[in-house]
Amino acid sequence: MKAAPENLERVLFTAEQVAARIAEVAAEISAKYEGRDLKLIGVLKGSVFFLTALARALTIPVKIDFLAISSFGGNSPGQTAGMVRIAKDLDDPIHDEDVLLVEDIVDTGFTTRYLLQTLAGRGPRSLGICTLLDRSIRRIVQVPVDFRCFEIPDRFVVGCGLDFEQLYRNLDYIAVLNPEALGPDKIEDKR
Ligand code: IMP
Ligand code: MG
Repeated sequence: MKAAPENLERVLFTAEQVAARIAEVAAEISAKYEGRDLKLIGVLKGSVFFLTALARALTIPVKIDFLAISSFGGNSPGQTAGMVRIAKDLDDPIHDEDVLLVEDIVDTGFTTRYLLQTLAGRGPRSLGICTLLDRSIRRIVQVPVDFRCFEIPDRFVVGCGLDFEQLYRNLDYIAVLNPEALGPDKIEDKR
């Protein structure tokens, strides 16, 4: 697929809105963790853009580490949703650290719940969740989201790290993908 402009239906949040909201959430996080060091854990690849923007806006000392996951089983008929495994683990232990899991989007919640359970087993001092986007209308398993930048409607979105077939991650705004251009079944398979 080519990243044609007609594949984007409309802009949901402009670059200015995204930057302003990240600054607000960063201020909340800096206040909450005042006097402590915080480790941000990013989930490759989707959360990289948000994590770096967030980290630059924080006023407390931060460390960063990344993990990668692969999901198998989607929302298509006949598949079991929510099977996730770690494809690349963190470089360092998180024992006794204040940890914030940084996500691009919390959708069904399966990915986040799996990561929370896995990380909690490693004995962090605290473990929070911060997400750029929250599509809580599609939640299947409940997860405690501590910080969210935006709640979004039930539409497939791209930009600020979120992809469709690995494209559009580098957009500095969030856009709704045009379902006619791409086919609704195809979108269902991607999230
Ligand atoms: P969950 O396990 O259903 O919460 O799925 C979360 C993952 O699905 C995210 O980390 C994204 O990689 C992907 N995803 C869900 N919705 C979207 C979307 O609208 N655009 C791009 N990726 C999405
Ligand atoms: Mg993806």
